[in-house]
Amino acid sequence: MSNNSIHTLIEEARSFSPSSKEELEQFRLRFLGKKGVLNDLFAKMKEVVPEERKSYGLMVNELKVAAEERINTFKEQFEQSEQSTDSGQDLTLPAYPMSSGTFHPLTIVRRQIINIFSRIGFNVSDGPEIEDDWHNFSALNFPPEHPARDMQDTFFINLEASPAHYKGPLALRTHTSSIQVRVMENQPPPIRTICPGRVYRNEAISARAHCFFHQVEGFYIDEKVSFADLKQTLLYFAQEMFGAETKIRLRPSYFPFTEPSAEMDISCTICKGKGCNICKYTGWVEILGCGMIDPAVLENCKIDAEKYSGFAFGMGIERITMLKYSIKDLRIFSENDVRFLDQFKGVR
Ligand code: DAH
Repeated sequence: MSNNSIHTLIEEARSFSPSSKEELEQFRLRFLGKKGVLNDLFAKMKEVVPEERKSYGLMVNELKVAAEERINTFKEQFEQSEQSTDSGQDLTLPAYPMSSGTFHPLTIVRRQIINIFSRIGFNVSDGPEIEDDWHNFSALNFPPEHPARDMQDTFFINLEASPAHYKGPLALRTHTSSIQVRVMENQPPPIRTICPGRVYRNEAISARAHCFFHQVEGFYIDEKVSFADLKQTLLYFAQEMFGAETKIRLRPSYFPFTEPSAEMDISCTICKGKGCNICKYTGWVEILGCGMIDPAVLENCKIDAEKYSGFAFGMGIERITMLKYSIKDLRIFSENDVRFLDQFKGVR
């Protein structure tokens, strides 16, 4: 073959532009295949006269490089466009994992509490976080000189005058018992409701106290509601929340808005009552306050205390969460550390 016709082949290879993979493959076979042009040209090398052999070899090599360059360029192009179209994708491959975030542990436990009480007929009520003196204190039987009203405990809100629909000076509510008053004022018995919400107290922040935390208030008002109803409701709650083997005990206590009042302990969830540092070796941990709603509180809310009676209870969601998930420091709830939050992945 003359150098001229090799030159034509080089030109042809360099300008080759296939429109399909098949066309490219035909080109490859024609030039680089076993019986292709290049093998043929290399085989003819020995027929070339010695003085022309060198330039012949260079030309053939140039053709080989040109053909290979075309093949590699288009092979890559076809592979890329295959990946970007659906037809070339393997739809059976597993999807990339998506990070789905988590519920905050306090949200998880609030939802669990709501769920447990809703199964025995309690609905959910809400109230404002900025509250007036009447709903947070007075209606709940707190005498004006009660220490809970003290500047040290309560965040008061400085306003020249409270808005018209508020009764008395404003503060951030110190407990969710204020919602109890609002519900009783607005709806006749029977009432069976729980009231979750954030509360605020002017306290130094430590592992066991914070200036804001969360509570769930619950109460039931009807004819002939008794202390036995309270006890059975709380036993049901404790066993649903902490397991069927959980025991409860009620200790006499004092709250201005309940009479009689009690605090409830559960058998320690960590040592199962044997004694550990969480329960201070007593086998019991306190989880809530409760009692029979004081008739004066019912009357403050225009409910006939001769006809109706009720029980109430209030618990801290942080405390329940700490016991349930063995969390030792309250501050971690508001630090937003994803290493902590990620441990609740998938829990609802
Ligand atoms: N409000 C109380 C507190 O913040 C908790 C409480 C105790 C609520 C007894 C109640 C109750 O409804 O009956 O400490």
